[in-house]
Amino acid sequence: MDDRHIGIFDSGIGGTSIWGEIQELLPNESCIYLADSKNAPYGEKSEERILELSIKNTEYLLSQGCKLIVVACNTATTNAIDYLRNNYSVPFIGIEPAIKPAAINSKSKIVGVLATKGTLSSSLFHSTSKNHAAGITVLEQRGTGLVEMIENGNLESDQLYQLLEQYIMPMLDKGMDYLVLGCTHYPYLIPMLKKMLPEHVTIIDSGQAVARQTKMVLDKYDLLTSKVELGKHQFYTNGDVNVLATILNTTKSNINISFKDF
Ligand code: SIN
Repeated sequence: MDDRHIGIFDSGIGGTSIWGEIQELLPNESCIYLADSKNAPYGEKSEERILELSIKNTEYLLSQGCKLIVVACNTATTNAIDYLRNNYSVPFIGIEPAIKPAAINSKSKIVGVLATKGTLSSSLFHSTSKNHAAGITVLEQRGTGLVEMIENGNLESDQLYQLLEQYIMPMLDKGMDYLVLGCTHYPYLIPMLKKMLPEHVTIIDSGQAVARQTKMVLDKYDLLTSKVELGKHQFYTNGDVNVLATILNTTKSNINISFKDF
């Protein structure tokens, strides 16, 4: 048993979609979440810079005594998780695009993946795609500009709808019946995606699978909390506190949001 916090970091507010799944599955665990919005998006940065930022976030979370770290960012996972696992002693949970379930269930055998340039160009993404999607056409689409718009906090603008449509429609025309969201910011686009996609197209993200994996790893290393009351959650952002507060949409007393220039 271990009552220390779970650490979670992302290039900004997107990883809150993963935090939401974790606190639903593990309500007694406490978390510290870092939103590195000042440096968003990671997806357009070099591999070296993504690694540097991932190390900075990890070291801050470790300085706060976290027992396990969730890299709640596809771009940071695909570019930095091997280094982090090899250089720090706590367990790390990463986020990989859910290509496997999409490939298994696709009837048209055409799967679309919407992700950042940093994720799509990584070797981890290519090996996942090769290993889990044999015999499947994987349509890769960069979501350039989407993270910036989500970080601005306006999830209903016409400009966002038009940009998303520009990325999604060509994959639909090619027959995709599964759309994999390969960036933790993108689950916030699901209401908009549902308006533009026909019913036969299934949207998948990795949130629930990551929460299950977190539980499994905590259990394996005897790190689950002994507490029986609701966990406490500290969110730090080096960007706009109001955007983070709006996306979390909560006034619960066990959740605290503050600015920190980490
Ligand atoms: C980004 O910062 O560009 C996106 C984060 C992600 O890949 O999940």
